[in-house]
Amino acid sequence: MYGLVNRALQQLVCAQQGERVWDAIRARAGVTDAVFVRMNSYPDEITHRLVAAASEVLDTPAAELLKEFGRYWMRYTMVEGYGALLSDLGPTLHDALRALDSMHARVTLLYPALKPPKFWITDAADDRLSLHYHSERSGFAPMIVGLVEGLGERYAIRVEVIHAAVKGASCDHDRFDIRILSRADATSAPATA
Ligand code: HEM
Repeated sequence: MYGLVNRALQQLVCAQQGERVWDAIRARAGVTDAVFVRMNSYPDEITHRLVAAASEVLDTPAAELLKEFGRYWMRYTMVEGYGALLSDLGPTLHDALRALDSMHARVTLLYPALKPPKFWITDAADDRLSLHYHSERSGFAPMIVGLVEGLGERYAIRVEVIHAAVKGASCDHDRFDIRILSRADATSAPATA
C-alpha cells in the first residue's frame, strides 16, 4: 500500500490519541518506519500489522478502526490536495459511487504502482443502491462503510451502509447495501474544499 495510506493512519491515531500511543502501536506491530513516504509503496503486511496492533492497543475491533479510518480518509485526501478528484466525482452520491474506478484510474497517473479496488453498482433506486467492492487484498472491507458515510457528508446526505455480503468461498467480492436516510437538498452540488 502506498505510504499515503499509512501516513493517514498515523495522523489519525496521533490526532486522536497522541504520538506516544502511535509509537506503542508501531512497536507492537514491529514496524520500524518512523515516517512513511507518500509516494513509496510499502508491503500490505505493514498496514495489516498496524491495524491489528492498533486494535489491541486501543482495545477496539479492527473493523471499527477501519470504518473510522474510511471517514478520516475523506477529510485527509482533501487536506492532502486531492479535493479536485473528489469534486469531479459528479453531482450526486450515486454518480460519485459510479465514478470510483475512473477516479482511482486518475490516481494511478500520480501513483503508478497503485493496485486500485474495483467498484460497481446494482439495484439503484432514488433512495438506495448496492455497491460491490472487489480487491485483490483482503481485510479492508470495513473501511468502505466509513468511506461511503464520509462521501455522503460531502453531498449533505446521511446514509446507512450495511455490509451485506462478505468476500469468501462463495463470493469473490463484498457487497454493501446503501440507503439514503436524509438529505439536506437532493439537488445540491457537492461541498467544495
Ligand atoms: C481523492 C480521493 C482518493 C484518493 C487520492 C485515493 C487514493 C488511494 C490510494 C493511493 C490507495 C492505496 C492503493 C495502493 O497503494 O495500491 C487507495 C486504496 C483504496 N481506496 Fe482510494 N482514494 C481516494 C478515494 C477513495 C474513495 C472515495 C473510496 C471508496 C468509497 C476509496 C476506496 C479505496 C479502498 C477500499 C482502498 C484499499 C485498497 C484495496 O481495497 O485494495 N478511495 N486509494
